[in-house]
Amino acid sequence: MFEWYTHLCDYHNVTPEKALKLGTRADGRKPDLPGSETCKPVSNMTMEDIWSMKERKDIQSIFDFYKDQGAWSTFRQCVRHKDLEQLHLSYFDLLIKNGIIKNNSHVCEYGCGVAPFVTTFLKYAQIKEDIKLNFTLVDVDCDHFNFAKYRLNKIIEQKGVKDFVTLNFETVKPDQLPSFNNKKLDVLFCFEVLEHVPSPVKVIENIRSNMNPGAVYIENFIKHDLEEDEEDTGCDLKSARDERNQYYTILEEYYNLVFPSIEQIKSNPNTTKIWQRNSL
Ligand SMILES: C[S@@+](CC[C@H](N)C(=O)[O-])C[C@H]1O[C@@H](n2cnc3c(N)ncnc32)[C@H](O)[C@@H]1O
Repeated sequence: MFEWYTHLCDYHNVTPEKALKLGTRADGRKPDLPGSETCKPVSNMTMEDIWSMKERKDIQSIFDFYKDQGAWSTFRQCVRHKDLEQLHLSYFDLLIKNGIIKNNSHVCEYGCGVAPFVTTFLKYAQIKEDIKLNFTLVDVDCDHFNFAKYRLNKIIEQKGVKDFVTLNFETVKPDQLPSFNNKKLDVLFCFEVLEHVPSPVKVIENIRSNMNPGAVYIENFIKHDLEEDEEDTGCDLKSARDERNQYYTILEEYYNLVFPSIEQIKSNPNTTKIWQRNSL
């Protein structure tokens, strides 16, 4: 059985107690983040200090932030999702019961970070030998993505399902779109990512053209209540915020809303939505 911290502690050589502390939010915290084979240690800095290490005006320097923070988001995302496993599994249950995930399906986690959804699924799934499943994991170059690669490969190796599960890791440049291994997608999860991408419109155009009718898209897009003319919004990009309405117009044209209702979305725009690709 894998605990939430099993691979995290192995990768960073820390105790479970330390892992929990490193991933738990607190005002003004300056965690002593360990290094790993893929990142340098980072210490004595708040998230704001890391952001201010250099002027971040162009796309490359903004996206360097994901590397400059070392293992910060690795610990944070693991702790954040440790109590959400039932939620992750409820999506997979629904998708399997409705025949969306079946033999040879292709599931993507976009802007996956430590890949919480696919990790939970692979941890608990009883994968039969007559089934093949394909997963594409997409993120920019950063250590949370490095950790996802390590953890997912370990899980399929330790569970002895390497022959039945294909993992395709696609590292994209910030303003680049993935090819999804040139294989149509049956399911795509995009959780708390779109507010960070330079163009959510380009992202949804790419996703919709890589899905056949019936495929399912599960997403949220955090709406920040910032002043219209506020320029420096950190790694929540202004260009993303400016395209939010257009993004949802495209989504409504090419997908049917499955869950929740339009009224529920109006009362909570940040809620996670399930969409199904139509035949347009
Ligand atoms: C708030 S985190 C969410 C991570 C993960 N989806 C989760 O739920 O824990 C945002 C993620 O988006 C990734 N990201 C930012 N810009 C991206 C881009 N242009 N393309 C793909 N991923 C991106 C970040 O590296 C980070 O992993």
